[in-house]
Amino acid sequence: MRIVVLVSGTGSNLQAVIDAVQAGELDVEIAAVGADREGTYGIERSDEAGLETFVVNFNSFETRAEWDAALTERVAEYAPDVVVSSGFMRIVSPDFIERFGGRYLNTHPALLPAFPGAHGVRDALAYGVKVTGCTVHWADAGVDTGPIIAQEAVAVESDDDEESLHERIKVVERRLLIDVLRQLSAGKLIAPSSANGVQSSAS
Ligand code: GAR
Repeated sequence: MRIVVLVSGTGSNLQAVIDAVQAGELDVEIAAVGADREGTYGIERSDEAGLETFVVNFNSFETRAEWDAALTERVAEYAPDVVVSSGFMRIVSPDFIERFGGRYLNTHPALLPAFPGAHGVRDALAYGVKVTGCTVHWADAGVDTGPIIAQEAVAVESDDDEESLHERIKVVERRLLIDVLRQLSAGKLIAPSSANGVQSSAS
């Protein structure tokens, strides 16, 4: 199973995928890692791992549509079976998702549909929830929306701040992401046939 991983930031989830592949614990080929801006640690990690990398800089395009079209073409060059948004903080178009057969996976540090968006951990803390968690799902063209594949709860401690809570969530998130990728590569999860639906869930 060939994957392209998209990142915007530190890429700790990506690093977990790289480590799992290198340790022989995950049978996927990371065809390339892409970012929406220059200078991300995620791309640095990928370079260090000897992976193919690319940047389609959001700020280099006049319109979102032009950026989206360029990203679509760049990702398509690697003919991925699955595209993984691993902390990729941009919305992509329905055309992007359709181009990859609806096989666009996202992780999010909250129990969706609660607290979508760029600040899922901060928003959960601000609301005062006692339990939050993380979600791995097939992404559609919305903000952290689409059919849920896996979720796990993480308790909020009374002395948590955004950083401490996010770190605990990420430990769980990494495990869930790798587990979902493992199930996909083993054919135990069927990817959606289009952006609009899932054929089936875990077997
Ligand atoms: C992860 O927690 C991921 O769920 C989140 O960004 C973090 C990226 O961390 N994504 C979202 O909030 C998407 N709405 P990383 O760059 O260290 O892997």
